[in-house]
Amino acid sequence: MVEDNTPQRIRICAGSELPDRGLGVRFEVEWDGRTQAAFVVRYRGHVHAYLNSCAHIPIELDYQPGDFFDLSQNYLVCATHGAYYAPQTGLCLGGPCPGRHLTKLNVVEEDEQVFYYPARKD
Ligand code: FES
Repeated sequence: MVEDNTPQRIRICAGSELPDRGLGVRFEVEWDGRTQAAFVVRYRGHVHAYLNSCAHIPIELDYQPGDFFDLSQNYLVCATHGAYYAPQTGLCLGGPCPGRHLTKLNVVEEDEQVFYYPARKD
C-alpha cells in the first residue's frame, strides 16, 4: 500500500489487479487504534473491502492469501469453519454466524486505481 498525495485517501492497488470474483488484495488499516488486516475484492464490477476478520471468531478469512471467494464465486468464505458472506454487504448468510457482518470499509475506484477512504465510514 502506498500513501497517495491526497491525505484523505490511501491507494490500495490498481483496479486491474482485482479480477471480478477472483483473488482479492490484502492491505492494512488503522482501525480502533491499531493496525488491522483488510482486503478488497471485485464483485460484479464493483470493489468491496472489509476488515479481514471473520464475524464468527476474529481471525483472517483467507487460508491462501487473497483467496476470499468460495468455489461458486458468489460468496466470500471463511476458510476456517465455512461462514459465507454476501460480497456486496458482508452479511453472513450461512455457517456458524448467520446474520452477523464483516466490517465494511469505504473503498472507491477512481482513475483506474482503488483507494481506501479512512474518514468515511458506512
Ligand atoms: S472463524 Fe470464520 S467461520 Fe469460524
